[in-house]
Amino acid sequence: MSFVEFENVSLSYSEGGQRAIEGISLQVAEGEFVAVVGPSGCGKSTLMKLISGLKPPSEGYVYVNGRQVGGPLGIVGMAFQAPNLLPWRTTLDNVMLPLEIVEPWRSERGARRKEFEEMARAQLARVGLAGFEDKFPWELSGGMQQRASICRALIHKPRLLMLDEPFGALDAFTREELWCMLRDLWQQQPFTVILVTHDLREAVFLADTVYVMSKRPGRILIRREIDLPRPRDLEVTYTDAFASHVHVLRESIGRVREN
Ligand SMILES: Nc1ncnc2c1ncn2[C@@H]1O[C@H](COP(=O)(O)OP(=O)(O)O)[C@@H](O)[C@H]1O
Ligand SMILES: [Mg+2]
Repeated sequence: MSFVEFENVSLSYSEGGQRAIEGISLQVAEGEFVAVVGPSGCGKSTLMKLISGLKPPSEGYVYVNGRQVGGPLGIVGMAFQAPNLLPWRTTLDNVMLPLEIVEPWRSERGARRKEFEEMARAQLARVGLAGFEDKFPWELSGGMQQRASICRALIHKPRLLMLDEPFGALDAFTREELWCMLRDLWQQQPFTVILVTHDLREAVFLADTVYVMSKRPGRILIRREIDLPRPRDLEVTYTDAFASHVHVLRESIGRVREN
């Protein structure tokens, strides 16, 4: 069985109501970088809720790490479009938040406080935020807040990182910087990524595999493996191979829009 597995999954938010997603089957291998793209309202965030155990499926099965998902999982880290940093906490204390919540870290945080703090400092340094540990969120730029938010998602060393349009609110230059940051994090410490985005270039630049979803009810239209060699740098986005991946994905969405 794959690390994350969907077996014919459908979900309606209300009993007997229209389905938000329908008949979704997919497999994600451990260590794989998957991107899910699709138009607004197609059920991308719904997919995330199913994997993180915030919602049970109406039909079908969701497995993570060989077990059917029955509630929130400690092996998952999450970040969203809004960085959602707590304004009364410093950057360092925001990053350390999961260690106060998720076991086994939670029970050990008294005895290992110094070590945890070093972990958080190291994680911040990895994303270029050394020196900003004691700043408050409002003292950071949008891009820096999102970097800190991703540090927080990774601090408890999750095996699965789920990102829901994490760069959607950033300008194009900052967004590309953060693509590179995420690429480097993923290359340094092994974890599985499921990235939800509506940016096809982002999906092709970062992912091993891209799934395109149809508009509501969301179904998987195509699965495309991105065979561009790694490590990838931004130069790759100007190549024909890159453009042709983006083109194929774009066309599949275009066809849906016309119906
Ligand atoms: N809590 C909810 N209650 C009822 N309907 C919802 C809820 N959350 C999402 N939906 C509906 O489900 C569909 C998919 O939503 P969502 O997964 O948020 O899409 P996306 O993230 O792709 O924009 C949309 O039509 C949305 O209105
Ligand atoms: Mg969404």
